[in-house]
Amino acid sequence: MSLGNYLIEYLDSGNYVGMDISAQALIKGKELVERRIGREKLEEKQPTLIQNEDLTFSEVGGQVFDYVWAFSVFDHLPFKYFEEFISNIGNVTDHDSRIFLIVMLKEKNSVAGGIPYLYSFSFYNPRCEYDYNCLRKLLVLNDYKMEMIDTRKHWGNLLRNLVLLELSRR
Ligand SMILES: C[S@@+](CC[C@H](N)C(=O)[O-])C[C@H]1O[C@@H](n2cnc3c(N)ncnc32)[C@H](O)[C@@H]1O
Repeated sequence: MSLGNYLIEYLDSGNYVGMDISAQALIKGKELVERRIGREKLEEKQPTLIQNEDLTFSEVGGQVFDYVWAFSVFDHLPFKYFEEFISNIGNVTDHDSRIFLIVMLKEKNSVAGGIPYLYSFSFYNPRCEYDYNCLRKLLVLNDYKMEMIDTRKHWGNLLRNLVLLELSRR
């Protein structure tokens, strides 16, 4: 929602679907957007907020999205969730859809991919760092190509190897 907060202004009414596995995150996200653009404007946009159970997209089955954003989701989740996402995202996208997401890549030559002192931060989880070659292999296997749009070594004053990817069908 922190991204939806800014994107929603560019969307046609009824054309935004937000998903999160946590009901609380959906409530907080809605509050955040309401505070920024106002309740009335948010209602005009008629967003659909869905609590998903897994990453099969069964809750939004039958719809095809032009844009999919997983903003700051997979940099917090182990690789198996990303595998689940890639196996199923074709259910709600087509050849022209554009998919954007952020991942955290393993850094070669560093201690377990990061800097030891970072382990004290709860949101930094070395299990969520993806191996670049595994990532590429998975995408090729599923017929996706990727483009690195941006990289970010720093998050505030923390070091993280964050990458913004755009995925599209080969
Ligand atoms: C750092 S937050 C980012 C939230 C939101 N995308 C944003 O930009 O504000 C990560 C979110 O991923 C959600 N999440 C974790 N596992 C998930 C899953 N399997 N499916 C959907 N959402 C998930 C968490 O509940 C949490 O709200």
